[in-house]
Amino acid sequence: MITRRGFLRLIGGSFLSAVSLSAYAVGLEPMLLTHVKRYSLTPPNWPAGLRLRVVALADIHACRPWMTPERIRSLAERANSLQPDLIVLLGDYAAGTRLVTDWVGSSEWAPALSGLKAPLGVWSILGNHDWWEDLSAQGAGLGPTVARRALESAGIPVLENDVVRLEKDGHGFWVAGLADQLALRPGKAWGRSSFTGLDDLHGTLAKVSDKAPVILLAHEPDIFPKVPSRVSLTLSGHTHGGQVRLLGYSPVVPSRFGNRFAYGHVVEENRNLIVSGGLGFSILPVRFGMRPEILSIELGSALQ
Ligand SMILES: [Fe+2]
Repeated sequence: MITRRGFLRLIGGSFLSAVSLSAYAVGLEPMLLTHVKRYSLTPPNWPAGLRLRVVALADIHACRPWMTPERIRSLAERANSLQPDLIVLLGDYAAGTRLVTDWVGSSEWAPALSGLKAPLGVWSILGNHDWWEDLSAQGAGLGPTVARRALESAGIPVLENDVVRLEKDGHGFWVAGLADQLALRPGKAWGRSSFTGLDDLHGTLAKVSDKAPVILLAHEPDIFPKVPSRVSLTLSGHTHGGQVRLLGYSPVVPSRFGNRFAYGHVVEENRNLIVSGGLGFSILPVRFGMRPEILSIELGSALQ
């Protein structure tokens, strides 16, 4: 039989563990435990002699108190310190939750990102929230969005269905960026009954004019089943790894494929996808088992 004192101790104990668990998931993990997640791979047909370090930041979701301009600045410094050949930004700079103490607009987050530096440049794509927060772009059904203009004025080019050819040690390669797959929200006023993507995978890859390898930036990983093997590596964000992930399983994933592309390195039919768990969050300010991360990817260094 449980005594009254024992019962109260139990209740008190559970209450305290619930409080400390919440404090961990709301305060500690989302804000303090950012880490560098490293991958090393040599995709099929990768040119011998091309070694590339790509650092990627995803889903910054600027807002106070969790993702302030100061924190973004320090993330940029940390990214630079990894000595990347190039840095890519995988979209969703805008806040993803209403639970904020104050907004951080593009006039603040874009200058905070302007400190990113890499020899082969900093290249970006946009995410769904960058489109959704821009009501005039939603009305017009097209860009340029406020986020795009802000990135460009911070000196960061935005690839929306566009490509760039870069070179390292005499080897060329392409960075292709897809426009967002969920860019336009449904709304009566806008004459749309469902989410409409602006992505054009075929048109984007048609701009690749030689045989050099392609790295594709696509905010949502759901495009991956359609990506041809011509693309060496697809980099995505958007899922935040589900924000809560236990034993390799995320109960909630914003993807029609559920856990298939929720997080990490996915290889299907010899094609490679890496999904970042991202840095910020959507809906609820919670992360558990899915620390904020910066990706550092070594290409061409693994044994072939
Ligand atoms: Fe997203």
